[in-house]
Amino acid sequence: MMGHKFHRLILALCGTLLLSHTSWGAPSANGVSSREDASADTTASTCNGRSEYCDRSYSNVSFVGSHDSPFVGKLPQQNQNIKIENQLDMGVRYLQAQTHHSVLDKSVLQLCHTSCFLEDAGTLKSFLETVKGWLDENPNEVITLLLTNGDSVDITEFGDTFSESGISDYAFVPSSSPDTLSIDKWPTIGEMISSGKRLVVFLDYGADAKKVDYILNEFNYYFETAYDVTDSSFSNCSIDRPSGASASGRMYIVNHFLDVDIFGVKIPDREHASKTNAATGDGSIGAQASLCEGQYNRAPNVVLLDFVDKGDAMQAQKDLNGL
Ligand SMILES: *[C@@H]1O[C@H](CO)[C@@H](O)[C@H](O)[C@H]1NC(C)=O
Ligand SMILES: *[C@@H]1O[C@H](CO)[C@@H](O)[C@H](O)[C@H]1NC(C)=O
Repeated sequence: MMGHKFHRLILALCGTLLLSHTSWGAPSANGVSSREDASADTTASTCNGRSEYCDRSYSNVSFVGSHDSPFVGKLPQQNQNIKIENQLDMGVRYLQAQTHHSVLDKSVLQLCHTSCFLEDAGTLKSFLETVKGWLDENPNEVITLLLTNGDSVDITEFGDTFSESGISDYAFVPSSSPDTLSIDKWPTIGEMISSGKRLVVFLDYGADAKKVDYILNEFNYYFETAYDVTDSSFSNCSIDRPSGASASGRMYIVNHFLDVDIFGVKIPDREHASKTNAATGDGSIGAQASLCEGQYNRAPNVVLLDFVDKGDAMQAQKDLNGL
């Protein structure tokens, strides 16, 4: 009994460290002007579930995203209640996940929360196989993965894992590669579907498009608001990373997941998830998104959430897209 409680406490304490998805904002190397091929026929009549998305550029769509998507369960260090397949089934098309080297086998990439001793959600390969299986069965859908590289693993190891899982065939390569695709050159969701390149992959640190062309450098493409927020009103949309970056030319990610500070340890605020993830009202997805939209004159591209099944994430996504 005692032992079990103690174990939980230790996990909770360790939670502090893990909530931060460690990242290093790489300075942007932008400038690119080659154009996506816009000639592909859009054959799909619905794209990500709606006809309206077919003609919208990827960079002009707002997605709600699952923060720490593979950490499913009821422990303090777990951020989601439902499995990846169920997140996709409910309409989430943007999955964030932390990667680390496995403790047991340094050649394996593992989905762990800061440390694999704290939270180990299996291998990256198995996660990718799950997402691939879902893409196979849902041909009119575009999914994005945002991965963190907490152990500074060489990009070729990511490439090998993607290849082994079979998912790399779906991966989108910008026409500008290896240079960054400018924000106004992204293909439409419909074009991505008809080209079969329905998986967009970003990595926070260590991407190298000359070695693996479909793993895109997150901070060349996005800026993010602060994470590990404990202010339930979510009243801040300022740029946190990359530090000192300009909003211009970048898509943006709003970190809309609430933490609670327990004796200096930040853990996901499970209790208030329904309010945090409401479509409207104080501290809701809609409220923070409109604050940010006022600041940047465009809607967020991504709003990352804990506990995506709570509140009204899908309604909020529709609202963000003006649907
Ligand atoms: C808002 O967020 C920025 C970026 O993380 C931070 O530097 C700033 O201190 C925050 N402002 C407030 C009032 O918390
Ligand atoms: C998409 O474009 C519309 C029209 O300009 C704009 O209102 C909206 O904020 C844009 N959304 C994103 C995510 O860029």
